[in-house]
Amino acid sequence: MPIKSVNEATPLLFPRLYICSFQNPFASTIYTSLCRLHIIFIIMFFSIMSGGSMHSGLVGLVCLAIASAICCSSVGSSNNIMCLESERHALLQFKQGLADESSDLASWKSEKDCCKWRGIACTNQTGHVITLDLSYSYYADSTKWRGEISPSLLELRYLNYLDLSYNHFEGIMIPKFIGSLSQLKELKLADANFSGPVPPQLGNLSNLHTLDLSRNKYISSENLEWLSHLSSLRYLNMSEVDLSKVVNWPQSLSKLTSLTELKLSWCNLPDVNLRSLSFINSSTSLQLLDLSGNSLNSSIFYWIANVSSNFVHIDLSWNKLEGGIPKGFQNLCSLESLTLWSNQLSENFEDSVKTLSCAENTLETVELGFNQFWGSLPDLKRFFKLRKLDLSNNQLNGSVPESVGQLSSLERLYLDGNSLSGVITEAHFLNLSRLQYLSLSGNRFSINLSSDWNPPFQLLWLDMSSCKMGPAFPKWILTQTKLTHLDLSNAGLSGSLPIQVWDLFSGLFDLDLSMNQIHGKLPNLSSTSLGNVNLSSNLFYGALPSFSPMLQSLYLSNNRFSGPLSSLCATQSPYLVYLDISKNLLSGELPNCWMQIQVLQVLNLGKNKLSGKIPSSLGNLQSIGILRLHDNNFSGELPSLENCTRLIMVDLGNNNLSGKIPTWIGQSLTNLAILRLRSNEFNGIIPFSLCTLAAIHVLDLSHNNISGGLPHCFNNISQSANDYIYYPSFLNLELVWKGIEIEFGKNLAGMRSIDMSSNYLVGEIPQCIASMTELISLNLSRNCLTGQLPENFGNMKMLESLDLSRNQISGKIPASFSRLNYLGVLDVSHNHLSGRIPLGTQLQGFDASAYMENLGLCGPPLPQSCPGDGTVQDDGIARGTKTVNDGLISLGFFISAVLGFVTGFWMVFGSLLLKTSWRCAYFGFLDNAKDWIYVKTVVYKAKVRRTLQR
Ligand SMILES: *[C@@H]1O[C@H](CO)[C@@H](O)[C@H](O)[C@H]1NC(C)=O
Ligand SMILES: *[C@@H]1O[C@H](CO)[C@@H](O)[C@H](O)[C@H]1NC(C)=O
Ligand SMILES: *[C@@H]1O[C@H](CO)[C@@H](O)[C@H](O)[C@H]1NC(C)=O
Ligand SMILES: *[C@@H]1O[C@H](CO)[C@@H](O)[C@H](O)[C@H]1NC(C)=O
Ligand SMILES: *[C@@H]1O[C@H](CO)[C@@H](O)[C@H](O)[C@H]1NC(C)=O
Repeated sequence: MPIKSVNEATPLLFPRLYICSFQNPFASTIYTSLCRLHIIFIIMFFSIMSGGSMHSGLVGLVCLAIASAICCSSVGSSNNIMCLESERHALLQFKQGLADESSDLASWKSEKDCCKWRGIACTNQTGHVITLDLSYSYYADSTKWRGEISPSLLELRYLNYLDLSYNHFEGIMIPKFIGSLSQLKELKLADANFSGPVPPQLGNLSNLHTLDLSRNKYISSENLEWLSHLSSLRYLNMSEVDLSKVVNWPQSLSKLTSLTELKLSWCNLPDVNLRSLSFINSSTSLQLLDLSGNSLNSSIFYWIANVSSNFVHIDLSWNKLEGGIPKGFQNLCSLESLTLWSNQLSENFEDSVKTLSCAENTLETVELGFNQFWGSLPDLKRFFKLRKLDLSNNQLNGSVPESVGQLSSLERLYLDGNSLSGVITEAHFLNLSRLQYLSLSGNRFSINLSSDWNPPFQLLWLDMSSCKMGPAFPKWILTQTKLTHLDLSNAGLSGSLPIQVWDLFSGLFDLDLSMNQIHGKLPNLSSTSLGNVNLSSNLFYGALPSFSPMLQSLYLSNNRFSGPLSSLCATQSPYLVYLDISKNLLSGELPNCWMQIQVLQVLNLGKNKLSGKIPSSLGNLQSIGILRLHDNNFSGELPSLENCTRLIMVDLGNNNLSGKIPTWIGQSLTNLAILRLRSNEFNGIIPFSLCTLAAIHVLDLSHNNISGGLPHCFNNISQSANDYIYYPSFLNLELVWKGIEIEFGKNLAGMRSIDMSSNYLVGEIPQCIASMTELISLNLSRNCLTGQLPENFGNMKMLESLDLSRNQISGKIPASFSRLNYLGVLDVSHNHLSGRIPLGTQLQGFDASAYMENLGLCGPPLPQSCPGDGTVQDDGIARGTKTVNDGLISLGFFISAVLGFVTGFWMVFGSLLLKTSWRCAYFGFLDNAKDWIYVKTVVYKAKVRRTLQR
């Protein structure tokens, strides 16, 4: 920005001595001339006076210096003629509107000549303010302005440059009066937190050639009619302005015949109406077009092809483009960059390359990543200017032609995430001396580069995940000492790492060697600059070293690290966000240094041999979202985590933790989606507050010593069961699913499960349980539950797995059970249920064992037919045949009924005494006996009724 540099340079060139100040530019010019005469006069005077003596010559020089300093300073200021009082006043008023807390505009007071103020420039000749630049710059250490924009700016009639970008105007509207600053050539209000509609008055700025309203987030424009008056406009950036209502935007823009750069990214632009395009005149000026992030469909291609053939840069990424690169692009012969990232384009890539052949001498950047281009990679060496080629995440197959090694300008090559195969050799890199970024991961490449190969390049970024490289660590990588990112995960590496690795890559920030067979100990890594380290699923062993103080994420799971965790406290990285050392052999107690790691979000130390109490400093982790200490030997009570309010997952399963289930879990952890306390020694009752966990997806309290009843508040839980919970992609959780412990990964987000099995829960299953209509798995087995099943049980229609076995639940299976259409696993065995198993394809499909050991269940799939059915279903053989006693109230029936009662009663009572614990028997006995008698009576009555009806 030339104007600014003049303004800043002035004080350096000329001392800040302003003895002459004039309001009138003419007077100033006269003064300057006089001053120059004065200097000449002084020089002449001293030359005559000194008359050749050394001494007097020196005096002469000193005097001359002083005289010039005094005078020339005014000469300097006269070059930037003093500003006009009226404009100075207007600027001071403008300043008053701003909140100037940092005294950043100190010069705006102390300095009299407003042309010398920070951010101001005036014309040379007349002293009018022409530039007002108060844009914020992080590097210039300036202030982010807020407050008001005073209309006093209208006084600056000659203003042609106004820049208030990157400030924070707290959502005020763009002032209408700006449209009256008629001399404006450049107006920049980018990223300054303006909101509301764009004032159409801006359309009056007929001299404008640059307009930037981008990234204000909340500004919108309902039509762009005003824009079409700006016929001088060359640069227009309205990115992130909401233009969703501007249906005819192509027409409005087509009137801007001088436009060379157009940026309308993330504007919610509506799709182009093809019929309206016929009214568009081709403009030859447009060179840069950025319409990324607008969900546009492929009709936009017609507009582009009609609007200009001089395109140099086109960015249409993040849209909904389909098909191939349109034939109209054949005319684009000046194209330097084409970015179509993240669309749904699907074309044989060889055809795409043909379409672009007119640009083969100009194309430098081609970004087609995240589309569905298919076919093989053709010879690209005609595109000799290519610097960046991004074909990642498409469906390319076949091998990579060796000619790629002749693209000598290539700096970035991304081929990751395709189905490419074949052998990568040194020929592929023959002339790639400028290559800095190389990504080949996620293909099926075999790498055949000899270990003494000396690559022509120095990479910054190397990603060869899933390439076949091993078994030895490739030596040539050791020549790449500028690497900041190295990913060799799942590359078939084994053996140990070269010792130099840790010293050579002194700038390495990301290191991923996961999923190999690398073994060895880790040295002290505290003097490296490693920020992200992933060594999981290898054979590393020994003590944990300390890591760089830059550490952000550390994944060491599934190795054989042993010993204590104390080195973690020595690492002292204030940036640590992810820490996963699960599935190792760590032992000892957890150190108590967690208060140092304020930003930690994920802590997984599961499946180790850690023991002792969980330290209280864990409660200081204010950012923690995932806490997993499962499968260790932790004991004692839980410390309070009430301030860890961002927790979405707490997994403490399979330890020896004891005490009551803390009430703060429900009160404070309002975001909790997964609570897994299974297989511990928690006791006491289920606190009522657990029901306030509105986001809970998985609640596993099984295998503890919990007693008391089920809380009558499940309806609260169900409320937001549909809410989307964000799970980090790497998150896996072991859940007992349909009776087997399974590791859930991706599909965890859809899981809704409650498991309270193997405790000492008593009382009835509350009615409100049925309001959890999204529940997929419910396990209440092996408790002492009594009473009847809620009638509306079938409302939980998503249930796929239901286990109520080994309780003392009585009564009938409610008819609503037949609505459980997804049920794949059912177990109600070992209860006191009776009556007919409701008819429903699902319920009859289970094995009889799902219903066995109940008091009086009957009907299919059980072999016992229900009394009065007139059918027996003895393995289906006797289906439909009449029973002997059907239709007769015989003495035999009465006798057998009474006998049946007596024996049945005692059988039940006896079995209660023998089979279940005394606690259960105590709570369950009376209810069950009563129910049994009731059922038998009902059955008898039904029989009588049937007989009488005949
Ligand atoms: C000042 O005027 C001179 C001569 O007219 C010109 O060369 C110079 O670029 C001008 N400077 C500014 C900042 O306008
Ligand atoms: C400026 O624009 C507004 C609205 O577009 C219009 O009403 C007005 O006449 C224009 N001219 C001036 C000088 O404000
Ligand atoms: C297109 O160009 C023709 C001739 O130059 C002109 O008459 C017509 O108004 C233009 N159409 C638009 C929409 O600018
Ligand atoms: C220009 O637009 C018209 C009207 O939609 C269309 O028929 C034509 O194919 C377009 N031209 C090109 C080169 O795509
Ligand atoms: C939680 O935070 C509050 C307020 O800062 C504090 O008083 C309390 O002691 C903290 N609780 C724990 C367990 O750290």
